[in-house]
Amino acid sequence: MDEMIQKAARDIKNARSVVALTGAGVSVESGIPPFRGKGGLWEKFDPMEIAHIDSFLANPEKVWRILVAEMKGIIDKAKPNDLHKGMAKLEETGNLSSIITQNVDGLHQAAGSKDVIEFHGTFAMQRCMECNKSIPTSEVSLEVIPPRCSCGGMLRPDCVFFGEMIPTDALWRSRDLSEQCDLMLVAGTSAVVEPAASMARIAKSSGAVVVEINMERTPLTGRVADYSLFGGAGMTMNRILAEMGL
Ligand code: OAD
Repeated sequence: MDEMIQKAARDIKNARSVVALTGAGVSVESGIPPFRGKGGLWEKFDPMEIAHIDSFLANPEKVWRILVAEMKGIIDKAKPNDLHKGMAKLEETGNLSSIITQNVDGLHQAAGSKDVIEFHGTFAMQRCMECNKSIPTSEVSLEVIPPRCSCGGMLRPDCVFFGEMIPTDALWRSRDLSEQCDLMLVAGTSAVVEPAASMARIAKSSGAVVVEINMERTPLTGRVADYSLFGGAGMTMNRILAEMGL
């Protein structure tokens, strides 16, 4: 492992353009449960029943109560961990250009990262389904569920539900960055949800070195990833930074 950390530190330092692709695993150490695996949200709920746009439209009250209200309580309390802080440090020191994140928790930005593409939208804002007005989630009262806009329309989180399109700007910019980077740091994602996972494949087929940080093997391991660093996201990031002298 030490050798792998040294190699990752060297590769990041020598790369011209480093882009990160992150998933729920990078926020686990901030107290936010992942979707898949042990303790994951999809162990308790069927994603197609709870996170598909059709389920939301058919029964918004149920989805709001189970998914959104629960997430609001957890995200409101979460603070960035060493992985988020480490990526912000990499950006600040010119060693990371952008982060493509599947997370909607805003923790990369809270840690100070400036260029964050929110591939699956954000939970920080709610959008009125009638007048399209955006309202910060922190200002939304959960006394009435589903909550309503001042115009009477129903609010929905500004996240991408299953069955919905990825925001066009996020998709195109992510594709461009994945094509152009020469190192992609993939952290805390099971790499099974498309099209997010294919950003690593695009990077690889465009000639980038793909480095993975995860607790366990993923479909990228040994195939798309040139090498994998197994371990907790925060601790692994700290070891890389220490090796880089940051
Ligand atoms: P998943 O929950 O599918 O995967 C989390 C990954 O993080 C797994 O591979 C874990 O092994 C790893 N992991 C867990 N704890 C970790 C830790 N402390 N350090 C490092 N790795 C750790 O999350 P995503 O890949 O982000 O989509 O899921 C992708 C999408 O599926 C989400 O954006 C969401 C979900 O349904 C939508 O909501 C549209």
